[in-house]
Order: sequence, then C-alpha cells, then structure tokens
Amino acid sequence: MTEIVECTGLYHIYKTGTLEVVALQGLDLKVAEAEMVAVVGRSGSGKTTLMNILAALETPSAGQARVAGIDIVALSARARLEYHRRVVGYVWQNARASLVAELTAAENIQLPLLGTGLARGERLSRTDSLLAMLKMGDRADLRPASLSAGEQQRLAVAVALANLPRLLLADEPTAELDRAAAGRLLQDLARLREELGITVLLVTHDPLVERNVDRVVRIRDGRTSTETRWSGSADEAVANELVIMDRAGRIQIPGVHLEALRLKDRVRIRRQGDRLVISRHDDEEEPE
Ligand SMILES: Nc1ncnc2c1ncn2[C@@H]1O[C@H](COP(=O)(O)OP(=O)(O)OP(=O)(O)O)[C@@H](O)[C@H]1O
Ligand SMILES: [Mg+2]
Repeated sequence: MTEIVECTGLYHIYKTGTLEVVALQGLDLKVAEAEMVAVVGRSGSGKTTLMNILAALETPSAGQARVAGIDIVALSARARLEYHRRVVGYVWQNARASLVAELTAAENIQLPLLGTGLARGERLSRTDSLLAMLKMGDRADLRPASLSAGEQQRLAVAVALANLPRLLLADEPTAELDRAAAGRLLQDLARLREELGITVLLVTHDPLVERNVDRVVRIRDGRTSTETRWSGSADEAVANELVIMDRAGRIQIPGVHLEALRLKDRVRIRRQGDRLVISRHDDEEEPE
C-alpha cells in the first residue's frame, strides 16, 4: 500500500504575544492512497491545526510531513502554490461561508480553475461533471443562498475538487447538517473516492461519519492516541484497536470497550502466554 500522507513527530506551537499554545505534540499519521480516514478528538485537540498543516497553510514548528511524496514542510512559495493547485483540496470548517455568495454554483466551481491554463471548454465540462457526480446538475445556475445546507456543503466539496486533487481534506463537513443531509454527503464522498481515486481525510465529531470510513484516528493532546479499523459491515462493526502506550506503560482503553465490558475503577489484568487480558475486577477471582 502506498502512503499518500506521512507525518512523523509533528509539533505545532502557536505564538500570540507572550502566550504559546502547543497544538500538536509529536503527532504521527499515515494514510494510504484511496483510503477514507476520520480524525476525531475533543475541541482544541489539534485537528484543524493538522488539516492546516496538510493543506500547507501552516508550517509545523517541528517534525516531518509528506503528502504524495512531497515534503510540505519545506515548500518554496511557487511549490506551495502548485501544491495547493494540484495536490490538495480543502473543505474548511464552516465551508459554506467560503462560497462566493454573488456567484452561481457552477461559477463557484470554475473560480479555482481560472488561471490554471485549462481551456474554457474544459473548465465547463469539468464543472458539469463535478455537479453531475454530486447530483446537483439542476442546481448549476443557483446562488449559494438558494441551495439547502446539504447542497451548499456538497458545492464546497465540488469547489475543493475542481482541480482534481489527490487528497481531499474536510474539516467537520457534516457539523451543520441534519442526519439525512449528512448521510447523503457521506455517500457522495464515498462515491467520489471511487470515481476519482482520491484519498479523503476528514475531521469529525459525528458518530455517523465514524461508522462510514475505513479507519478512525483519535487525537488526544496533540498526538494520535488510538486507531479503529472497522471490519465487517458498518453497523455491526468489530473494532480492532491499535493503542499507543506511553513510556510509563499507560494506555487508554477505548470508550467502546469500557462501555461494552462495563470497565470501571479497578480492572483485572491477567497474562495469558504472550497476551494480556483486561477484565472487570470481579471477573472470576483467581487465587493470588
Ligand atoms: N491561530 C491560533 N492562534 C493561537 N492558538 C491557536 C490558533 N489556532 C488554534 N489554536 C489553539 O491550538 C489548539 C488546537 O486548536 P485546533 O483548532 O487545531 O483544535 P481542533 O481540534 O480543531 O478544535 P475544534 O474541535 O474546536 O475545532 C487549541 O488550544 C487552540 O486554542
Ligand atoms: Mg477545528
């Protein structure tokens, strides 16, 4: 499997006046080509910071980040422009605000295509096919204000995909959508991934999104803490977790297991050959 995103030991410190905020502290992340991955974590855990770094809008304070083989930490101004244009598409947190209110849906998609050397005919056909993929062909001539919230969000996706990037970043794409619109957007993203072969990395708080991606990466205190790979159907997903252990041997047991096994306070850890079994402390008392 080829990796399209490879981050190692990313640090990011925001400096505002005399204040320093450490947003990322040693984050590692790998995403394979054509994978659909959700990044989750509580507010302030560094998710948007990570997206901004991958979009080459912020330069990390330390660490390595490569996207599609390109070292995005050391981009020249010209290479950065090229990177924005060809490699990455970004659907911002609150993406609907990034649409140009005076332009129609079709014109919003054409905007990032201007100045790319693409002939007018190609720009129009690209726009048509993106609108068609999002089943918004009949919305081409409407302005954002005349579109539903879900359609506005799908239009923001089309704008981000206008230059056919290899990596689509989307920050909380379903946050302001009702459940039906959120489900629709997820289906569209999955289909776009199939049809365009793009990789999708999204930030979310939405359990619906978590259940509909290949993998969930959890960020805690500026670094990745657990990963969930879903196997089987989305609804009866069986989670196979990879958890990071710190140097003192502490691990965080994912919440799904805590709930399912009602683990609380004291838990029992038993060694069975080369594995450890964690269970409730009242689970089959064994002689000490
Ligand atoms: N431009 C900035 N200047 C200073 N501090 C910032 C800036 N942007 C983010 N931070 C701080 O960095 C930390 C990580 O912020 P970030 O926006 O990446 O979190 P997030 O996980 O996206 O949160 P949310 O879920 O609320 O969107 C937070 O403590 C935040 O206050
Ligand atoms: Mg954020």
